[in-house]
Parts: sequence; structure tokens; C-alpha cells
Amino acid sequence: MKLDPAALRQSLRAIGNGQSVTDEDPAPSEVPMQPGRSAGPAYVVETRDLTKIYDNRYIALNALNMRVRKNAVYGLVGPNGAGKSTAFRIMLGLQRPTAGEIRVLGRPMRAESAELRRRIGFLPTSPSFPRHMTPISYLEFVGRIVGLPPDRAKIRMTTLLQSVDLYDVASHRIEGFSTGMATRLGIAAALMNDPELLVLDEPTYGLDPPGRRQMIELIRDLSGRDRTIIIATHILNDVERVCTDVGVIAQGRLIYDGPMTEMRRLARQDSITVEIEGDVASFERRIAELGEPGTVRWERVGAEIRITFLGIGLMTDYLRKLLALVEDSAVELLRLDTGSHEVEEAFLRRLEEDRSRGLLRAPDWAAGESRAQPGTAEMVRDDGGRNGSP
Ligand SMILES: Nc1ncnc2c1ncn2[C@@H]1O[C@H](COP(=O)(O)OP(=O)(O)O)[C@@H](O)[C@H]1O
Ligand SMILES: [Mg+2]
Repeated sequence: MKLDPAALRQSLRAIGNGQSVTDEDPAPSEVPMQPGRSAGPAYVVETRDLTKIYDNRYIALNALNMRVRKNAVYGLVGPNGAGKSTAFRIMLGLQRPTAGEIRVLGRPMRAESAELRRRIGFLPTSPSFPRHMTPISYLEFVGRIVGLPPDRAKIRMTTLLQSVDLYDVASHRIEGFSTGMATRLGIAAALMNDPELLVLDEPTYGLDPPGRRQMIELIRDLSGRDRTIIIATHILNDVERVCTDVGVIAQGRLIYDGPMTEMRRLARQDSITVEIEGDVASFERRIAELGEPGTVRWERVGAEIRITFLGIGLMTDYLRKLLALVEDSAVELLRLDTGSHEVEEAFLRRLEEDRSRGLLRAPDWAAGESRAQPGTAEMVRDDGGRNGSP
């Protein structure tokens, strides 16, 4: 499997933005001075105390307040059952909220907002398709639904199939498709109407690590072109690579949101963990010399020493100095692990704060979860747990 970002970029340029859009609702909150494909509100999605209670019993959204900036790639991150898919279905007008308000592209989203819905592309989790169809027949069908003239639909379909690397199987029956292929077809379908807002519900679900990376690359290529993208995920790692903004959702509430850079800055913490043998005490006495005064912290955890660098130095320099210190001391290095568990740290710290304020119960995944591989900040194992289909 191979995605071709260059082809995609080209396709998107070819497809262009020529779409005239009308909608049934007036748009009092429009900011007419904004440049872009259409002058529009600063926030593409804005919710106020959005609440969803299923069957009068299950609270899926608990006064969710969420704002998504125009042209952002917004990661909605949270564990399974947090309310992400529910929020998306309400965002698409597929479900009614129990209480609260939601505006999408500056207008209230309702079940009857068909025109508004046409400006949005939606990829559900693990999309499924009529098995007998082929990518061509399916995308033609989608083109008719979104009201594209047939010739325009054909052009768009061809370029999109190329971009998501399904060109070679364009006339194969969908039933034999892998998860990755189905997801990519879902993305092509969501892009048929050249949406201003693209909503992706766990686009990396069920993909192996290379597939996941390619999906992230694809999403990166879709961004930044007068298009806002919202991605739900329970894999923090993915979001970190592609998102400009992040919102953390737990038990139906947003417990953190802000620019990704801010989250990184808050969380910036480079660390090296070593396991050594020999004259450990004298080694420990000199750890502080590894960085500027006051910028090195360390703690002993069992047989390991975890050294955290709070300064602005480069990891490679710290590493070099550390190895020199090992050389210099009467110790033997048994193991060394570098990891900047940046976002993971921020996430956990934030949860810890909220928990201590009594806002929420610790979600399962916050308790002593995975440290997948050295150097990764994988927050939650992709355990295949699913829930909450409508
Ligand atoms: N149709 C439904 N009926 C009853 N409960 C539901 C329904 N859909 C979702 N839920 C519940 O609402 C909560 C949020 O689910 P969901 O929005 O699917 O979360 P996420 O997408 O973050 O995993 C979960 O506790 C889920 O079990
Ligand atoms: Mg979901």
C-alpha cells in the first residue's frame, strides 16, 4: 500500500474550490472580512453546553463546550466511550442533542440542514460499503448524492482514486478490501464534494503502523487549503504528528483544549533513563553537571535512574555528556532509553489536575498505561476495543 501525497496535492489543486453554496439559514455571525474560499465565521464548529443522554440513561455528552478554528486540524482525543462519535453525529445533524447548542460553519446544525451537511465530508469509524460495488460505482453514487454533474464527478473521482492509491483496484469489488483500503475509499467518498469541513472518526482504526503513518500523511496533505479537519482518535501519537489544535475529551466533557504547540510547550520534557551498575552513588552526585545549573532533575525508580532535562539544550548533547559521565565514573551501563513522552505527560498531568478537582473519575487508560516502545508517546494501546455504534 502506498499513498502518493504529490498526486494528492495535484488532484486537490485540479479539483479546485469551485463550489457555490447556499443554505437555508441566515448567517448572522459571519465575519465578512475573512479571506478564503468563503468568508465565514472564525469558528467552524462551536458548541455550547452540548448534552446527549441516550435513552434517558446514558450520558454521552455532558455540557460539551468545544470550538474549532477555521482551517485548523483539530484532534479530538479521548478514550473509547468518551463521546467523540456522538459529538460527530450531532455535528453532522444525524442525531439531535438532548440539550445545548451547536453551530457548524456559522449556522445552527439541525436534522433538516441538508445544504449545510453538503459542505461537510464525514468518514465514520470503519466505514462499510455495499459489497457488490466497486470504488468507481460507489464514488459515482456518492457524486449523485452530493449533486455533482456526472462529468465533474468523473474527474473528481479519478483524481481522488489516484490520491488514495485505489486507482489499480478501482473496478474491483469492495468486498475483498482490507481495512486500510476501505478507510481510504471512505476518505475519497468524504472528499467528493470538496468539503470545507472534513470530519474523520478514528481514521487510523485497525491500521498497522505503516498504514497509520500513511494515513496521517494523507491527512496532512488534505489540510491547510481552506479546509478544516477534525479527527477523533484515542491514539495520541497520531494527533501529535498532524494536528494544529487539540481537545481532550473524557466522559463527555472537554478537559483540555488549545494549540498543539502550547500543549507541547507545556509538556516539553526530555528525559533519559539509564540502568547502571557499580559506584552508582558517585554517578548520581554528578548528574547535575549534565545541564545548566538547576535544569537537570533525576529520580531513581527501582534499578533505573530517570534523568529529566528541563533546559533548552539538544537531546544529542545531553546524551553525549551522559555517556562521557558513564565513561568517567566507575559504573557500567546496562541499559539506556531516551524518550520524550511529551504529550503523554501533558495529558496525564492535565487529567491528574482535573481529577484532583473532582471533575472526573480516572478513565481506565489513565491508570498506568502502556509505554509502548522507547521513544514513543503512545498513550493508549490500539486494543481493538470498539463501542457506541448508533
Ligand atoms: N446509540 C446509543 N445508545 C446508547 N448509548 C450509546 C449510544 N451510542 C453511544 N452510546 C454511549 O455513549 C457513550 C459515548 O459513546 P461514543 O460517542 O461512541 O464515544 P467514543 O466515540 O468516544 O468512543 C458511551 O458510553 C456509549 O456506550
Ligand atoms: Mg467512536
